[in-house]
Amino acid sequence: MLNASLALSPDYVIAPVRRRLFGSFVEHMGRCVYTGIHEPGHPTADEDGFRGDVLELTRELGVELVRYPGGNFVSGYRWEDGVGPVAQRPVRRELAWHSLETNEVGIDEFVRWARKADVEIMYAVNLGTRGVAEALDVHEYMNHDGGTHLSDLRRANGSEEPHGVKLWCLGNELDGPWQLGHKTAHEYGRLAAETARALRQAEPDLELVACGSSSSSMPTFGEWESTVLELAYDEVDHISLHAYYEVIDGDVDSFLASAVNMDHFIDSVVATADAVGARLKSSKKITLSFDEWNVWYMKRFQAETRTEWEVAPRVIEDQYDVTDAVVVGNLLISLLRHSDRVAVACQAQLVNVIAPIRSEPGGPAWRQTIFHPFALTSRLARGQVLRVETSSPTYSTKQFGDVPVVDAVATHDGETGDTVVFVVNRHRTEPVDLKVGLAAFGDVEVAEAWTVHDPDGSATNTETDPDRVVPKPQDTTLVDDSLLVVLPPVSWTAVRLTSTS
Ligand code: AHR
Repeated sequence: MLNASLALSPDYVIAPVRRRLFGSFVEHMGRCVYTGIHEPGHPTADEDGFRGDVLELTRELGVELVRYPGGNFVSGYRWEDGVGPVAQRPVRRELAWHSLETNEVGIDEFVRWARKADVEIMYAVNLGTRGVAEALDVHEYMNHDGGTHLSDLRRANGSEEPHGVKLWCLGNELDGPWQLGHKTAHEYGRLAAETARALRQAEPDLELVACGSSSSSMPTFGEWESTVLELAYDEVDHISLHAYYEVIDGDVDSFLASAVNMDHFIDSVVATADAVGARLKSSKKITLSFDEWNVWYMKRFQAETRTEWEVAPRVIEDQYDVTDAVVVGNLLISLLRHSDRVAVACQAQLVNVIAPIRSEPGGPAWRQTIFHPFALTSRLARGQVLRVETSSPTYSTKQFGDVPVVDAVATHDGETGDTVVFVVNRHRTEPVDLKVGLAAFGDVEVAEAWTVHDPDGSATNTETDPDRVVPKPQDTTLVDDSLLVVLPPVSWTAVRLTSTS
């Protein structure tokens, strides 16, 4: 048994909990849209063909915002293919994922789905094969009141009111050679700045996200952010980050410490953005949009081959285990800890494609293991994020050297008096006896405590056994202003304390 302790106080505030950290992502990729959110004829489908079971799970997941329509998909997308009478919409080759796009779902359908799911939309424009003119067109279609060609077209298509989307991504991963319309940092920075200026002429208070690097391991990482922001600093609000984690060569110890990489990635982009701001003598602070993050077994994806042009093929339908869920819980801890600078985050993706929700055509929908830490964190993290001083033993990893066994963050809601501690034990074999000092919070009691853990780290949820891994009530003890919890090996825990004074 290892020992660790946490010190926290309601006075050690990092920043308010940003609800936009609980974002997700719906891309026209694989079965995320078709047979994911949309499946006319499914027993739970509503009048618009949206699956009721998937909508219900989306609400339960606690998603606040959804990025749409891609991803790599967006860099070849013609938004106008997806509006107007469905029967007249063209079928197109979708080059990013080698499939056929029927365009049965487009902007107006997605907006309807988002209203039902009660989520904000983050809309990405195509800056791969397209540019300023098409970004202005899609903005006119979506956000202009009426009395112009494209806003009247939207009205004629049944959406009288403008869609009112405020948060826009200026393209996707244009630093990546795989991206349609891949660009140098200078080419992209100029295009992003020009597109941003044009969009702001149409609607000054939009929030705009410039593409950062598609991962911190890109050879251009750092230089890309610096060049893009030099060119677009005054025009954009956020810079994006994307990161996916997986077990490499069986190295589970490093995988369990993936949040160390996320912390470092965030700190590096903040430093780069601030250095550009300093060079430009600007008092403005750029915030971060971590608009793609998750566990993704890319090695398995590289083995997937598609030669046929299919509609909604099965692409990267990763099945997650309990170890993946602990890593996802830890990545959420990292995002919360950085809520002073990370303004938006989207887990990629929502359903079927590396997703917390799985669905079968004509069949059930179920929660993957990674659903649970996301849903609990979204439900419980309220008020202010607190800095936590952690005293923890370390363990050795190949990728990151010695890292703390325990990682934690806390939130405190001044209105309800609730304090929530989110904590992981990354050790593969040792439980941790954790002591959390609560003297600064007055009299408290434990309102609820949950742990995601399984003695078998490879336990998964499947269509036939959908609740093999669920959060279990966690035993806790309160003694002399301290909370005592035994954290099992490879576990993620959330404890909500409520004030009794
Ligand atoms: O989420 C899957 C893909 O990962 C996205 O389309 C792309 O942006 C990223 O490389």
